[in-house]
Amino acid sequence: MAAAAYPLELSIVIPTYEERENIPELLARLETALAGIAWEVILVDDDSPDGTWQVAKAVAARDPRVSCIRRVGRRGLAGAVVEGALASSAPFIAVMDADLQHDEALLPEMLRVLRAGSAEVAIGSRYLQPEARVVAGLAGARRRLGSRLANWLGRKALSISLTDPVSGFFMMRREVVDRVAGKLAVNGFKVLFDILACQPQPPRCVELPYEFRPRLAGRSKLDHGVVAQYLSLIAAKLSRDMLSPRAIMFGLVGASGVAVHIVVLRAFLRFGFADAQAVAALTAMTSNYLINNAVTYRSRRKRGLALVTGYLKFCLFCSAGLAANIGVAAALHDHLPIWWLAGLAGAAVGAAWNFTTTSIAVW
Ligand code: GDD
Ligand code: MN
Repeated sequence: MAAAAYPLELSIVIPTYEERENIPELLARLETALAGIAWEVILVDDDSPDGTWQVAKAVAARDPRVSCIRRVGRRGLAGAVVEGALASSAPFIAVMDADLQHDEALLPEMLRVLRAGSAEVAIGSRYLQPEARVVAGLAGARRRLGSRLANWLGRKALSISLTDPVSGFFMMRREVVDRVAGKLAVNGFKVLFDILACQPQPPRCVELPYEFRPRLAGRSKLDHGVVAQYLSLIAAKLSRDMLSPRAIMFGLVGASGVAVHIVVLRAFLRFGFADAQAVAALTAMTSNYLINNAVTYRSRRKRGLALVTGYLKFCLFCSAGLAANIGVAAALHDHLPIWWLAGLAGAAVGAAWNFTTTSIAVW
């Protein structure tokens, strides 16, 4: 088929993880939907074990409009989208999923809206259509409730009023992402929300309805970790970016460690307090490490031998953090004998130390 006249007008960034079977159908549909538009597709694959990138690169070798970035040792939808957007070159950038849940037929309409200049961002919304159709794409009651909740939270945290602020299907003028590229979180799913929340001035947005279809093949990668990442992103926005999503998550994991500590301490008390305290501290440190590795640092998750050496370093730095905690609390208490204030100050210094040092030395 004849290529549309250059210059390039539209870059479509598609994050992929284990979507091998969806790629051929996706590209065939884009080809049809985008007739007459000068487009490029950038697939950003996080080294999928099913070899998605191999399929994508085979297509890219035949079709110069298609390219594939294979990222190794990293995971995350948001980071993949940002990287693809920065590698692209058209004045308009679209983001969509690879599993055919997003309706490619909406792309030309989004482009028309943006070309007309009345908006900088065009968003595909699942919630601008009859409820029955929304239900089709969101498998399971829990997922539907979760989606509504995520939407509601997103609306509260954003100053722009949208029906679907966590949509994964949107198109924007390049400047919108370029001006905030350095600020975006690489963890998690909610890249549209983050792009909008980071803007110095709320951009003009238009929402267009579409039907969120069931995925063609494979399974969803949205799990509890992704939910936790979203909640910490919202919390970071509510703190006006004083705390990063990672710092918030690290703090929450630390709080879960306190709970683990207390439960284990109680369970081992019959072996004597000092022994029980040692077991409790070690268990809490281990669970903190594992949860942080799986969620807080999911995009750089360690496995195998690196998991073990990381653990040893984590224990080392957190032990130093404990020493700093005790030292600061004791020194403060000498000057100002308010036990809870000294205790809290020590804990805050210890937590800040642990977060800073482990983020540099461990992950
Ligand atoms: N590169 C990369 N790395 N891609 C990923 C990763 C990752 O870690 N995780 C998911 N993806 C890709 C998938 O391969 C798919 O193309 C797209 O991102 C969406 O992932 P799904 O796993 O299909 O997500 P979903 O359908 O459950 O969630 C959709 O709806 C959410 C709102 O309910 C997505 O559109 C989300 O962006 C959206 O927020
Ligand atoms: Mn999907």
